[in-house]
Amino acid sequence: MRVNTSSVWKVGVVPLILVLAACTKMSPAADTQPAPGSKEQVLFGRQIVITHDCAGCHGGFADPTAKGWLAGKMSPQQEFQIGACTVSDPTAKPCFITRPRNLTPDNATGLGRFTERQIFNALRFGLRPEDTPDVEITSTTPGQGNFPSTPHYLAPPMPWIAWRHMSDPELKAIAAYLKRGLAPFTNKVAESEGPPDFWAAAYDAKNVGQYPIVAFPTANERQP
Ligand code: HEC
Repeated sequence: MRVNTSSVWKVGVVPLILVLAACTKMSPAADTQPAPGSKEQVLFGRQIVITHDCAGCHGGFADPTAKGWLAGKMSPQQEFQIGACTVSDPTAKPCFITRPRNLTPDNATGLGRFTERQIFNALRFGLRPEDTPDVEITSTTPGQGNFPSTPHYLAPPMPWIAWRHMSDPELKAIAAYLKRGLAPFTNKVAESEGPPDFWAAAYDAKNVGQYPIVAFPTANERQP
């Protein structure tokens, strides 16, 4: 059989263009901004939540059909022991039990009582939403630009020190998905334990790096 090369070209390339167009639509780049309040923003947030393994701790892994998806600690295996206690010496002190919280918009036990801005502030600055007023924060220096003078940080191992480097549109999309894209699920998670300073000493910039991120390249990096 003779193959008509020009029709092979058409058959091969047109679907490729369609696939590329579909990909662009499905995964907005960090610099594109789905309209606040739109369904696209919620879907963008869903994609970030799944690719960043939020549910690996908050419940459900990468399966949005899982019971308790993002609903927080439901079993003792989801708790963490933070501090001196280790496998070799589980009785060593200090030892704090921390528990991933319910991220569904349930009013009593989840994020329902917080605004999208409070959730954004939790992800950008690591601030506990229940202890942080619903205001725009413009500084990372305690006492300045609405940054609390005695910050109450989220307990480890919540990886906010990494997530805070996501762009504004990305963090806003996560908040949109948690508030508007999830069904409320009632699950009361006990408070995490922690030191009296709410981890302020542990989250010193010397320990966890700076926000915004330092310029490239550092001594550990090199120009490509
Ligand atoms: C390694 C485990 C882990 C991962 C991964 C993780 N979290 Fe958490 N998260 C926690 C823990 C533990 C807490 C509770 C902190 C506390 O009690 O102070 C928490 C708390 C939170 C809170 C505060 C909720 C409240 O009511 O105070 C938000 C919001 C949150 N996580 C969102 C996320 C998002 C979004 C992701 C993914 C981008 C994520 N987390 C990934 C462990 C994790």
